[in-house]
Amino acid sequence: MTIAQSLRGMLVGASLLTTIMTGSALAQTYPSKPISLVVPFAAGGPTDVLARTLAASMTKSLGQTVVVENRLGAGGTVAAGVVAKAAPDGYTFLIHHNGMATAPTLYRKLPFDVLTDFSYVSLLADVPMTFLGSKKFPPNNMAEFIQYAKANGDKINLANAGLGAVSQLCGTLLQQAIGTGFTSIPYSGTGPAMTALLGGQLDILCDQTTQTLPQIKADKVKLYGVTTKNRLASLPDAPTLAESGLKDFEIVVWHGIYAPKGTPPEVIARFNQAVKDALKDPAVIQKIQDLGAVIVPESQQNPAALQAWLKSEIGKWGPLLKAAGQYAD
Ligand code: MLT
Repeated sequence: MTIAQSLRGMLVGASLLTTIMTGSALAQTYPSKPISLVVPFAAGGPTDVLARTLAASMTKSLGQTVVVENRLGAGGTVAAGVVAKAAPDGYTFLIHHNGMATAPTLYRKLPFDVLTDFSYVSLLADVPMTFLGSKKFPPNNMAEFIQYAKANGDKINLANAGLGAVSQLCGTLLQQAIGTGFTSIPYSGTGPAMTALLGGQLDILCDQTTQTLPQIKADKVKLYGVTTKNRLASLPDAPTLAESGLKDFEIVVWHGIYAPKGTPPEVIARFNQAVKDALKDPAVIQKIQDLGAVIVPESQQNPAALQAWLKSEIGKWGPLLKAAGQYAD
């Protein structure tokens, strides 16, 4: 070994020691100021609703305010890029869904790597999607919709919260399964898309029950079906899309929390504990249940479970999206 190599080794050792000491010193005082939880889509939409539900409870557990910050754009990749580049000090986290697994296939030039630029905190909850029409839109059920879609194709307006959004993923699979193309209308999230659907400016929307269930129960939209493999206990009369003839159609939206790579493990552990506390909070459990979502089991409320699931989801959606020929530069 040369002197330079051995000096380098000592430097690396010293910097590791500094990191460990900084990490534990930080962990003792953490958190000492408000924490930002970055949401990739518009306020009022499903990701935002889940984030705000958790943030309110985590604020109690952490003794510091968890501030929800909406960073919109490019199907969630703007927010992920902001968090990937933020200081790894435990004061910036990202909440995101399947978009973390689809973005690496959808974007040729993604300014971050979902597998190497993040530390993982926890899986959170799974949410079914519903496929809806505006009250002003003619079809009354899925069979009528399929017939109408085949005849009218691109005259139909479909919401699109960007490449990487689950509304967009669902729309892509729907168009493939029916064999027709709709006109996609861009939104910064399905919160504003729902407002357009209720106002009749939008014809159809695929969106999570965390936003759609109250509108369905209030009979403000037409419900054509659910995207899960089996019917939902919360909407027992709604057929699955697979039941309505769209073979093997299935999307479940899963959510996780991420931190910038290099966030000290003690800090991740403290934040993870706050997530687990929130997922046990009766008010959170009730709200999540009322919105048709399912909290992941405690054995999945950890960094390793999120990392493993993300990898498997990249493997699942990559080939499907490549086959659909979708990407952005
Ligand atoms: C949202 O929170 O607005 C939605 O999750 C966006 C999407 O369709 O992915």
